[in-house]
Amino acid sequence: MRVLTGFSIVAELGEMIYAHTAVSQALTTPGIADLNKHIFDSSWDCIGKMPAYLKSLEYKNPDQPENTLSHYTTGTDFFAYLRNDPARLVRFNSAMKGAGGILASPIPTPILEAAGAAVGPAGVVMVDVGGGIGQVTEKAMEAHPAIKGRFLVQDLGKIIDEARAKKPTFEVMDYDFFTEQPVKGAGIYFMRRVMHDFPDSKCREILRNQVSAMTAGTSRLLVCETVLPATGCSGFESLADISRTTFSSMQRTEQQWRVLLESVGLKVVKIWSAVAGPFGVIESVLA
Ligand SMILES: C[S@@+](CC[C@H](N)C(=O)[O-])C[C@H]1O[C@@H](n2cnc3c(N)ncnc32)[C@H](O)[C@@H]1O
Repeated sequence: MRVLTGFSIVAELGEMIYAHTAVSQALTTPGIADLNKHIFDSSWDCIGKMPAYLKSLEYKNPDQPENTLSHYTTGTDFFAYLRNDPARLVRFNSAMKGAGGILASPIPTPILEAAGAAVGPAGVVMVDVGGGIGQVTEKAMEAHPAIKGRFLVQDLGKIIDEARAKKPTFEVMDYDFFTEQPVKGAGIYFMRRVMHDFPDSKCREILRNQVSAMTAGTSRLLVCETVLPATGCSGFESLADISRTTFSSMQRTEQQWRVLLESVGLKVVKIWSAVAGPFGVIESVLA
């Protein structure tokens, strides 16, 4: 309890008398609790090995997709590591839902409405690429019941099985984003917290697979991610950035996002900022 009171997670009212704070209350909600367990169990080994890993790279920025901190620690990439352990995977999915609750940056209403109008009731309004068990799509559909078109969530194997088991109102599809996007001409290709798991070279592969499915004039690609300030990052943002070492990746500044998206033939039309914090939605179209 000394640790919890020392870090103001729990309030100490007197000797051996404790009370909840807003932080400890939040930690009791299932998704946030699972996010912490995910960090302290599944990610902790990687964090512990970081100094030795960085030394092995002679302190160069990690950018090799086949030699990430996860490979160094677990022998494989982080998602394969999770998929190989059903209990960790279930907890990870719950954690992503929980983190979504904190960081939710909803898809901007004007974009969803424009997508619905462009594709019509039989068309695909939105494809949530690497969408987990559909945590964002679910919220988008709930918030916009008047939009009648199709909503699709794509992810891999067991995650898609878990999404399907919920008998969702959206469609689910097993799709590896390192292969050609099979859904053509959707209104929105949406990716939240996907790019931050990959170095630029891999992001370009993922993006090109989506770009080739987009229709000029109607399709938009939305990247929902942290947009770091060019200077003055907070401690939280900096820690989130260095934790990307697990994937040889990084959090990106606005300029880094623009360079990345423009390198695959996209044009950034707007960056929708979150109400609080650095999370934003980067809207782009075919250049
Ligand atoms: C950090 S999670 C984000 C999930 C969701 N977009 C969200 O924001 O809550 C990244 C997702 O990408 C998926 N993923 C990883 N590699 C993939 C691949 N090659 N093809 C499709 N999905 C993949 C993971 O299974 C995971 O659900």
